[in-house]
Amino acid sequence: MEILLTGSNGFVGSHLRQHFTANNHRVRRLVRSQPKGDDQFLWVPDQQKIDEEALKNVDVVVHLAGENILGMWTQKKKNAIMESRRQSTQLIAQKINEMSQPPKLLINASAIGYYGNCGDQIVDETASKGSGFLAEVCDEWEKATALAEEKGVRVVKLRIGIVLGTAGGPLQKMLLPFKLGLGGRLGNGKQYMSWISIDDIAGMVDYIIENDNVTGAVNACAPNPVTNLELTKTLGKALFRPTIFPVPRFPFKIVAREMSEEVMFSSTRATPKKILDAGYVFQHNYLQEALKHLLKK
Ligand SMILES: NC(=O)c1ccc[n+]([C@@H]2O[C@H](COP(=O)([O-])OP(=O)(O)OC[C@H]3O[C@@H](n4cnc5c(N)ncnc54)[C@H](OP(=O)(O)O)[C@@H]3O)[C@@H](O)[C@H]2O)c1
Repeated sequence: MEILLTGSNGFVGSHLRQHFTANNHRVRRLVRSQPKGDDQFLWVPDQQKIDEEALKNVDVVVHLAGENILGMWTQKKKNAIMESRRQSTQLIAQKINEMSQPPKLLINASAIGYYGNCGDQIVDETASKGSGFLAEVCDEWEKATALAEEKGVRVVKLRIGIVLGTAGGPLQKMLLPFKLGLGGRLGNGKQYMSWISIDDIAGMVDYIIENDNVTGAVNACAPNPVTNLELTKTLGKALFRPTIFPVPRFPFKIVAREMSEEVMFSSTRATPKKILDAGYVFQHNYLQEALKHLLKK
């Protein structure tokens, strides 16, 4: 297949690029700086510019690009988080809408942040949008696909959980402090973390490409979310390290209050009901086996 990928330099994008190439698909990349090869095409999402050659004869578009959500949420950063997703998605959806032979499928990233902080409540794809900045971002991000849907293109909005892999993302950041024996739960550790292994992100994307009946919002997280305390203990055990130093909440309230409340201390217990009902079999159902697999790589 001919697959157009955005965010291909990022953690998930780099993995998918290698995965698709290894499976004999041809990958085109939308890049924000001068293209450096036949597989690269320029786009400037905030100026609504895109090299239209990029979309010609493409079977599937996988759109991951967006400003990283970590860091201090100044107004400028929040605008970048929102607009990098809204504008880029609108641009892709609009170009798809204008095509006489559009791609068959648009897989658009979103996040389980859509559901906001929901404590112990289990949320599947039918749950309503939560409150908070990230929930608004996800909602706008998903709505920005409308013109592609209007064209009759299958659109999947992948509500991604915490992606675990050692080449980037949160697990990579946690490894050093945990290896030094400085790992600990965040706050009281009762918040749920809906995680997914990077292998299952690739597995789910393949399954979605192959199964036309999967459409709309799809939770991309493993069937067994854990609390932050369980995550801390399981990672400590996997690395044979103690996890006795909890990370207190109050310093974050001073330096990065909004980000930390929505990213580190928020609780989302999501279940991947739609993809399980569609027959997808997860490679990693439980955190312990996922970590064992990822850490031996
Ligand atoms: N990793 C997770 O745990 C997780 C969880 C939930 C949702 N997600 C979502 O999944 C997507 C991929 O995640 P990731 O971990 O691979 O993210 P990442 O490593 O931060 O990569 C995101 C990519 O987006 C592009 N990008 C960055 N800033 C941008 C901006 N201002 N405007 C346009 N494009 C920009 C860059 O791609 P180029 O340099 O190639 O242009 C970058 O490599 C993101 O949208 C993220 O929000 C990830």
